[in-house]
Parts: sequence; structure tokens; C-alpha cells
Amino acid sequence: MVNIGLLGFGTVGIGVFQILESREEELKNICGCHIKIKKILVKDLNKNRPIKVDASIITDNFDEILEDEDISIIIEATGALEEGYTYISKALKAGKHVVTANKAVVSKHFEELTELADKMDLYFLYEASVGGGIPIIKNLKELLVLNEIVEIKGILNGTCNYILTKMEEGLNYSEALKIAQEKGFAELDPTDDVEGLDARRKLRILGSLALKAKILEKDIFLRGLRGIGPIDIEYVDKMDGAIRLIGEIKVSQNGYTAIVEPIIVSKNSPFYNVHNEKNAVLLRGDQVGDLIFYGSGAGRFPTAHAVLCDVIDIVRGVETIERSLAIRELENINKTIKGRYYLRLSKSSQDIYTILESIAWEVLHKEENIIIMTKDMFLNDILKLIKVLEVKEEDYFLARKEG
Ligand SMILES: NC(=O)c1ccc[n+]([C@@H]2O[C@H](COP(=O)([O-])OP(=O)(O)OC[C@H]3O[C@@H](n4cnc5c(N)ncnc54)[C@H](OP(=O)(O)O)[C@@H]3O)[C@@H](O)[C@H]2O)c1
Repeated sequence: MVNIGLLGFGTVGIGVFQILESREEELKNICGCHIKIKKILVKDLNKNRPIKVDASIITDNFDEILEDEDISIIIEATGALEEGYTYISKALKAGKHVVTANKAVVSKHFEELTELADKMDLYFLYEASVGGGIPIIKNLKELLVLNEIVEIKGILNGTCNYILTKMEEGLNYSEALKIAQEKGFAELDPTDDVEGLDARRKLRILGSLALKAKILEKDIFLRGLRGIGPIDIEYVDKMDGAIRLIGEIKVSQNGYTAIVEPIIVSKNSPFYNVHNEKNAVLLRGDQVGDLIFYGSGAGRFPTAHAVLCDVIDIVRGVETIERSLAIRELENINKTIKGRYYLRLSKSSQDIYTILESIAWEVLHKEENIIIMTKDMFLNDILKLIKVLEVKEEDYFLARKEG
């Protein structure tokens, strides 16, 4: 019997519980033992739960789980940043393996928690922290045996992608966000998703693994979906393209660039047909070439599935190919990020138009909104210009053309 301490009994925690129940026999056959959730940690003991669980296994006291010597694996699915970190590090120090879905904690404490697990000779696995149900982390670790990863590119946030799909169907941004919230994709406070912070955390995790270098959140240039409007969707559609929020890391001889930003993808891009809450990640290896991983980036069962795949690896003692982090020094060359940009400014004037015309490769629209495709330009230069023009963040939208 393998006993688990499950921290969190929300979307993911309940999914873990239900899959474990429904696949009990299969798991016993493959693992050679029962996997049982012995204790569940929640924040509010009085909360009504959508499924019935024996009240004696639910607690709001983490120490009960930590001190239980029968519990050998902790699944952390709380979403709490500070407490989540404390739970994970205490569990590892107490000799328990840890599986987490908490990308905020992994991103913030990646090197430290990896080292701690290493020192304690324990598993610290986090497949569900990137791409929900997509098995990206384990595959990436395996690819690294024979490949240098030279590019990562992905739709890493299901909420943003869902909003973009709904806008393509004719809704405005607020309507799309409201439906995303009703469906449970977007949080009540959607900032982390729509501003790109969540995608950046995931890119930080993938990038640190793939490049074997310390790529922190601050090293990733960030521009979210703020400012986007139906007019942008309409014009990009006329260009036979679609807007996607994409996280991208590229390695060259001089260093690496890392950015999360809206990108205009063309119809033949693998990202064009990624709709709703789906995620897709492209990994480019120097030996294997391009590999594309596609699937549900969030949701109860896909995410719980990823968590349990990690648990199965632990129970079966699978030698996961662990990667030492931060063993390479790479220079960040984000200042070299450049391309042709779609730029829309609302509340414009003739003076602004004259300035924009000078950087335009093509003027797409010139009325209250000015829309241009820029010449090939450094992103920094465009942003500097926008600052000089004193345009408020909500009054412009900027997206790089993929290419
Ligand atoms: N939902 C997804 O599709 C998805 C996908 C990928 C990754 N993730 C990650 O998975 C984690 C869990 O997400 P979720 O959607 O399942 O969250 P959720 O539905 O909000 O559930 C969180 C659970 O954790 C408990 N909790 C919160 N803070 C706690 C604390 N400080 N101490 C003890 N328990 C605490 C809550 O207790 P109460 O029930 O008593 O409030 C609740 O049961 C997050 O890190 C999230 O980023 C989620």
C-alpha cells in the first residue's frame, strides 16, 4: 500500500481522488500495490464539497499529514504560493516525495526545491505545472539526452486562448472573459492569465529545463493581451492570420531571447488551429527537429491525470531522467527581439499618424484607429516610441507577425 497526503481538494484535488477511485484495479495491477489517499488537506473544513469523502480523512492541519509516517507521497494542489512552498519544502525535508501542479511555486523556487529533492534523494515532479494534461515535462527531459533544445514556442495559457477563440467568434474582450470565468477557466481576478504572468511561469520552467540555464521570470519579456479589441481580431483575420498569446525562447550563438507576447500566426502555423482552452507546445531539438505537443492545458481530469502520471512513476520507481538546473551560463539578448509588428492605436491624431507612417511597412487603417504593419523593427524601439507618444496601455495593441 502506498499512502498519499493530498493537499488541496478543489478542481485538481478532486480529479486526483476520482481518477484514483475509478482506476483502482488498473493501478494495482501496474504498480503492484494499492495507492490510497490517506489524508486530505483543505483550507476550510466547513465548505460544502461536490463529492462525499469520509470526514475523518479531511484535515486543515498540515502537520497531521507531515507527521504521518505512513504517508510517503505528497500531492500539492493548493494553488497557494507561500503555503504551497512551505508544504513542499517541509514534505521533502521530512523524506516524502512530492508531486505538484503549482506552477507559481515551481517557478519561484525551482532551483531550490530541485536541489533539496536531489539532496534528500527524493522525487520532486511537476508535470501538471505546465500544459495541464500535456505530457511535456517528462518528454522534454527525455529529449535532452540526445538533443540541444534550440527553440520552445507555445500557447501556454488556456484562458487567454479561450478568450481569443471567443473573440474570433464575435464577442468583445469583456464578454469573452465573462464566459471564461463562468466556465471556470478564468479566475475571478484574471490578471495572471490575461497579462501573461501564468504563461511566463510556464515558460520559465520549460526554459530552465531545456536550456539548462537559470532563466528566471524577470528574464522573460512580457506583454499580455491588454488592449486587444474586436478591431484587431477583424484586421488580423483579413490578413489570413490569428492572434495567439505565445511564449517563445530561442537560442543562438550569442545567447537566448525569451518572451511572452501576442503573435499573429498564419494559417499554416501549428498554432492557428489551437482553439478554446487547448495548449500547444513546439520543441525544436537539434537532432529530432520539431515536435509538437497538443492537448488540454487545464481542467480537472487532464490536470489530475498529469499529477497521477508522476505518482505512478514514483510508485514504480521509474528512473526519471532528472536534470540539474542552471549548469550553463547563457546571455539574455532580449534587446535583439525584432520583427514586423501589427500596431493599432486608438484615440489618434494627425501628428501621431505622421510619426507612425514613418515606421510603417503598410498602413492598414487610418481613421479614429490607426493600424499599421511596421517595418522590421526592434521591439524595444517600438515600445520606446509608444512611450514617447504617451499612449495609455489600454489604447494600443501590438502583436508580432510570426516569421
Ligand atoms: N485547475 C486547473 O485546470 C489547473 C491546471 C494546471 C495546474 N493547476 C494548478 O493546480 C493547483 C490547484 O488548482 P485548483 O484549480 O485545483 O485550485 P482550487 O480549485 O482553487 O482548489 C484549491 C484547493 O486547495 C485548498 N487550499 C487553498 N489554499 C490552501 C492552503 N493555504 N492550505 C491548505 N489548503 C489550501 C482549497 O481548500 P478549500 O477547498 O477549503 O478552499 C482547495 O481545496 C494550482 O496551483 C493551479 O495553478 C490547475
